[in-house]
Amino acid sequence: MKTFSDKDAMRAHVRSLKAQGKSVGCVLTMGFLHEGHVGLVHECLKHVDEVVTSIFVNPTQFGEKEDLDNYPTDLEGDLAKFEAAGVNAVFLPTPDVMYPEGADTVVTVAGLSDILQGKVRPGHFQGVTTVVTKLFNILEPDVTVFGEKDYQQLAIIRQMVRDMAMAVDVKGLPIVREADGLAMSSRNVRLTPEDRAASVVLNQALDLVTKHENDPLTVEEFRALVREHIAQEPRADIRAIDIRDAATLAPFYGRLDRPAVILLSVRFGAILLIDNRVIGPGKEHL
Ligand code: PAF
Repeated sequence: MKTFSDKDAMRAHVRSLKAQGKSVGCVLTMGFLHEGHVGLVHECLKHVDEVVTSIFVNPTQFGEKEDLDNYPTDLEGDLAKFEAAGVNAVFLPTPDVMYPEGADTVVTVAGLSDILQGKVRPGHFQGVTTVVTKLFNILEPDVTVFGEKDYQQLAIIRQMVRDMAMAVDVKGLPIVREADGLAMSSRNVRLTPEDRAASVVLNQALDLVTKHENDPLTVEEFRALVREHIAQEPRADIRAIDIRDAATLAPFYGRLDRPAVILLSVRFGAILLIDNRVIGPGKEHL
């Protein structure tokens, strides 16, 4: 497995793979990898001959009050995980490679970036779409895989790729969960043992909805069911329970006549966890 920090050398490497007739996929990360990231690589390898990855803690997607400096890192462990997963090469740029002096161009998916998480984290998704565009331009992937855990991020990337006619096939990977159901996230290690134990309530609430998905309930009743279940856990501080059209993220009212996504945003101590579940008729065709 090769590593590159220079963007031209990285691009030349991908082009040399393609010159050998190989298809190339990419998995973009901010490091501190867990099994979910490894799952993205495995999924990507199902569609392409070689997978290249990136590790870059992107400053422009962190808000002023968000802890960029304390973002966890484990470069050695990350490289070992990528190598074991069969990654061909890893791009490890420094901030000045991604944001050279005077870089003023940004990429914004209007609308979708301003709702839900975008409302509480202004500028976050613009930071994501800007860096992802740059990484796509350097890595020139045929395929990319993003986790469905960051449901809104995936929807925004899909729209950006469509709107800007980018030549990359975006695939989503279903949420990878711990044995007790907690969705894998780099943030989980920062939960106290008590909060970690309490956090299973999120998946339980989503399972409850799946169990009732064929009942004649309205979206408002589903939301009440979820709220009631999570509220039984005193350590859970509910920030948002949104139910949206799973395809467009538009508000959803009334009975479940098409796929809807339930988006949870719940704090445990200082750590904000997100999770989601798609329910409703036709969800398998999304
Ligand atoms: O999902 C992430 O880890 C980041 O938002 C991404 C896509 C690597 C962009 O920095």
